[in-house]
Amino acid sequence: MNVGIDKISFFVPPYYVDMTDLALARGVDPNKFHIGIGQDKMAVNKKTQDIVTFAANATKNILTDEDKALINMVIVGTESGIDESKASAVVLHRLMGIQSFARAFEVKEACYAGTAALQYAVAHIKNHPESKVLVVASDIAKYGLASGGEPTQGAGAVAMLVSADPRILQLNDDSVALTQDIYDFWRPVGHDYPMVDGQLSNETYIQAFQKVWEEYRSRYKKSISDFQALAFHIPYTKMGKKALLAALEEESPEEQERILTKYEASIMYSRQVGNLYTGSLYLGLISLLENGQLNAGEQIGLFSYGSGTVAEFFSGRLVDGYQNQLLTNLHRAQLDNRTVLSIAEYEELFNDILDTDVNSDYEDELPYSIASISNTVRAYKEN
Ligand code: HMG
Repeated sequence: MNVGIDKISFFVPPYYVDMTDLALARGVDPNKFHIGIGQDKMAVNKKTQDIVTFAANATKNILTDEDKALINMVIVGTESGIDESKASAVVLHRLMGIQSFARAFEVKEACYAGTAALQYAVAHIKNHPESKVLVVASDIAKYGLASGGEPTQGAGAVAMLVSADPRILQLNDDSVALTQDIYDFWRPVGHDYPMVDGQLSNETYIQAFQKVWEEYRSRYKKSISDFQALAFHIPYTKMGKKALLAALEEESPEEQERILTKYEASIMYSRQVGNLYTGSLYLGLISLLENGQLNAGEQIGLFSYGSGTVAEFFSGRLVDGYQNQLLTNLHRAQLDNRTVLSIAEYEELFNDILDTDVNSDYEDELPYSIASISNTVRAYKEN
């Protein structure tokens, strides 16, 4: 049975910081951010926008009434949860008007959680081919003002509808996952920002890619030439490239150029957004599909990485007519129509934290946003 991604869309908040401005404010050469890290803009959100509003704003782009009647599972992958107990997927299920007889839950393993959700959705559809699963990866990546990780922040969500006979990407039954108990990046309960060993996280990412890629190649007898493109988890756009370059060392110059050209297509959107954590691989996939000039039938390899760490390499095949399912114009307009913030405005937003212990009403221009807090409960504005 063919199972995979039938629809896909993303949402990022409508404000950003220009990385030249951030570099100058931090006394850093702008080339370090633009070239060394590979980021041009960084998405920033207001306190009235959280992982639920990102998820709702991304999901509303893809669901029809028929989808809402057929979805019987909603999974949110996140590491920016707003409650230790209740899942954001339950709220999303209501906001989207999905039929009641459905499961809704959240999954966690750093940036890998979106892939965990996707693989679980695929397994579910194999048992229940008549149903559909909504998978959303939604996060706010915040490391702190003037911290080492600051230029790798970002925010937003990717929503995917998973079904039988998908119209975009049919996932192959050939994944290799790897779990290693390593503290490269983690966020203890009660901490607003993650603890991160930046260099260890870079090294572990590259090693994890090499391990799953080697295992995948030997298990499935495949090589780079079997793929038209590889998409990576993108904490910053230089990261995937570092892992890729290591894997391409023994390939011919033509083969290297072929794969690196597609890699550039996969990072176009992330360069303007930053790290979405769970959504980053899938923002990269959207960017690749919308800018990579791929043909139906071609194979794409996907590398998912979550600190802590879990990594997975898996693959998919592009379906005939997949281009008709893409929301390219909407996505490009969303990125183009954002407001640039000065560094003072960004720092003010950054420090303006939502206090859920204080009852209050809020105004926000987004279709879905936090309208009020009452008894610690977030009420959402629904358009
Ligand atoms: P840093 O110490 O600020 O930067 O940390 P650096 O000194 O390592 O320099 C970065 C690059 O810029 C280097 O290039 C420099 O040479 C270059 P590289 O050697 O790496 O190719 N550079 C310049 N280039 C041009 N002109 C210049 C210039 N100056 C320097 N003038 C770091 C960077 C990414 C470590 C930091 O920002 C950080 O800690 N970020 C957060 C952690 C992270 O993103 N890790 C990535 C792997 S882990 C992961 O992906 C999981 C994650 O998404 C979380 C999850 O799973 O939930 C993070």
